Amino acid sequence: MSISLIGRSIQESATLKLNQTFAILKAKGEPVIHLGGGEPKSKAPIDAITAITAHLNTGEVRYAPVDGTIEMKKAIIRYTMEHYRRQVEPENVIASSGAKQALMVALQAILDPQDEVIYTAPYWVSYPEMVKLCGAVPVAVTPEDGTFTPRLQDIEQNVTSYTKAIIINSPNNPSGAVYPETFIAEIVDFCERKGIYLIMDDIYHLLVYGGKKVVNPFDYVKDFTENSKLIIINGISKAYAMTGFRIGWAIANKDLIKVMANIQGHQTSGPSVLLQKAAIGAINGVQSSINSLRTTLENNRKVLVEQLNAFNGVHLLPPDGTFYAFADFSAYDKDSTRLSQFLLDKVRVLTMPGKEFGMDGYLRLSFCGGIKDIIEGIERMKWAIDPDAPNELYIGERKLVRDWN
Ligand SMILES: Cc1ncc(COP(=O)(O)O)c(C=O)c1O
Repeated sequence: MSISLIGRSIQESATLKLNQTFAILKAKGEPVIHLGGGEPKSKAPIDAITAITAHLNTGEVRYAPVDGTIEMKKAIIRYTMEHYRRQVEPENVIASSGAKQALMVALQAILDPQDEVIYTAPYWVSYPEMVKLCGAVPVAVTPEDGTFTPRLQDIEQNVTSYTKAIIINSPNNPSGAVYPETFIAEIVDFCERKGIYLIMDDIYHLLVYGGKKVVNPFDYVKDFTENSKLIIINGISKAYAMTGFRIGWAIANKDLIKVMANIQGHQTSGPSVLLQKAAIGAINGVQSSINSLRTTLENNRKVLVEQLNAFNGVHLLPPDGTFYAFADFSAYDKDSTRLSQFLLDKVRVLTMPGKEFGMDGYLRLSFCGGIKDIIEGIERMKWAIDPDAPNELYIGERKLVRDWN
């Protein structure tokens, strides 16, 4: 079989693969607990459901404009005004099939082969593969001070004449870190001065806790004309609990949006008009579901952090946003892939290996599931890896006997 160089270089999405493993085990009746999830379990807002149903009932579901319907763009403009205090025009907006596609077409619009894209570790699993899909070179930068907060100096050291873009994801998947104002101000200024694209992946920006504030990059932008290199990525997947609706968007300068629309037009065309209707319903509708999701997640987060803090040998910088905690398990096993597999095999707890996010020795644990699962999942993990744990553990009726050290 003859496969392209790019095709050969792309890894399977580790998170999606583990989700499949979970579904298979669950279907077999295995008592598996998912602490690796990437989506809230609440229902989509009622306004989204009403809007999509009304359109479906017309029986006329046609192609949508390549860059999104006018109504969709208006809803995104409204969202941008409300959450970024910035008035943008329809030509600054493209709606795509998920934030993932918005990001992908943005990269395809700006990257040439050999160009480099910098992002900070730990990072979302898709960044390196998306950059490679463009024939470009991914460059991960790990903060040298042992925190999850990048510093401009760490990034600057990795900038070369090939650096075309920097991706910033705050709140960050997987660490939950919310980057400080000084850093965002510095990176916006740095990219403007150097003429480097700054891609802000803000998909989690409404999911922050403990009074933390996500910094609005527009507060520091001096130039949002056609020369602007700022690209904002966002969508409805996380805050509206609408992952399966596949609507995301980008805000950028008009020329770039036009190029992105040209690319999208030959890939998938405009996102499904039905799903855009649902997204419009969610954005223009009652916003209370976001608050209740945030309250639930904040509570789950408290429980997860307590459980992990009581876990000898595990080190955690508590997350300020998202629904992930990225905990250092290297005292137990420096190989996170092995540890994650061990936990799945022995106690049927699914975790995401830190290696996939650019930091081995860590596990990403999600708190978007139920509290019961968080507590039981961590208990099972403790039992599996704590050498002083009792010899037996019951999972429902099933008795597990430790046959390892
Ligand atoms: C950091 C980050 N960006 C983008 C996405 C993609 O979002 P969407 O579901 O809208 O494609 C995800 C999804 O997990 C994510 O974690």
